[in-house]
Amino acid sequence: MSLTTPPEGRCPAAPISRFTTKVTMPALAGMKREGKPITALTAYDYATSRLVDEAGIDLILVGDSLAMVVLGHENTLAVTVDEMLHHTRAVRRAVRRALVVADMPFGSYHGKISDGVANAVRFVKEAGAEAVKIEGARVELVRALVDAEVPVVGHLGLTPQSVHRMGGYRVQAKTAEAALQLRADARALADAGAGAIVLEGVPREVAAQITAELEIPTIGIGAGPECDGQILVFHDILNMTFAPHAKFVRQSADVASVIRGAVEQYREDVELRAFPTDAESYHLPKAELGAADISLTRKG
Ligand code: KIV
Repeated sequence: MSLTTPPEGRCPAAPISRFTTKVTMPALAGMKREGKPITALTAYDYATSRLVDEAGIDLILVGDSLAMVVLGHENTLAVTVDEMLHHTRAVRRAVRRALVVADMPFGSYHGKISDGVANAVRFVKEAGAEAVKIEGARVELVRALVDAEVPVVGHLGLTPQSVHRMGGYRVQAKTAEAALQLRADARALADAGAGAIVLEGVPREVAAQITAELEIPTIGIGAGPECDGQILVFHDILNMTFAPHAKFVRQSADVASVIRGAVEQYREDVELRAFPTDAESYHLPKAELGAADISLTRKG
């Protein structure tokens, strides 16, 4: 039986979870006011999103990092709107409680504002996203998206879609001038109506200052503990990325070893003919054996 096979052909039941209150965009601001840390993680498919949601994570980002960790690309630039929609739909089908945020991929919001809005609307309308995330200080676009009723999460600091401009994945805002610019950008995004801002790869002190200055939540990744929430890539915390981790990643489990061990066990069982056993087989009723002219005897 697969994870998705519903019992007796019924629709999958709602996940059993002690976390029941639906997380909304306004709820995130409420969490900031109450000083309650926002938990966020990426996820890209039905099974893992369901587990992440049932574990009580507040925000699930269908990140364009899927280009790398799921599709095996070198960076995030190649993933398309259609691919992101495909994964967002799968996540949407799994999630009951968390806020589902879809990442707008590279090239889908870098031209005309109206094209950016049209692409963002697709994520809400066709895939069930509750907000979109865009990288950079695109203030005019944020305003247009909010006008179009599309909630927006901004993303500042180390923005992976700018990898070529940055010359690699480098910590940003390391000079006073750059830190002041980042603070101004964060303020401008908040004033334009962004509902939250991801701060990636910036000095702790800068992220703490921005977090204190804004009324909307900051969600940090490599931005220190003072951010209102934290986000990491699902595959990173489970050791599923086949690459050395960045300093800010805390690995919570070694799922790669678990999967490798389980698959090796399965291979061995098949090679040794230890799988399947008689108990794992279907049987023709005895009365039918003769009529079907079957005389083979059971081995095990
Ligand atoms: O795509 C992504 O995974 C992100 C991060 C903020 C986690 O943008």
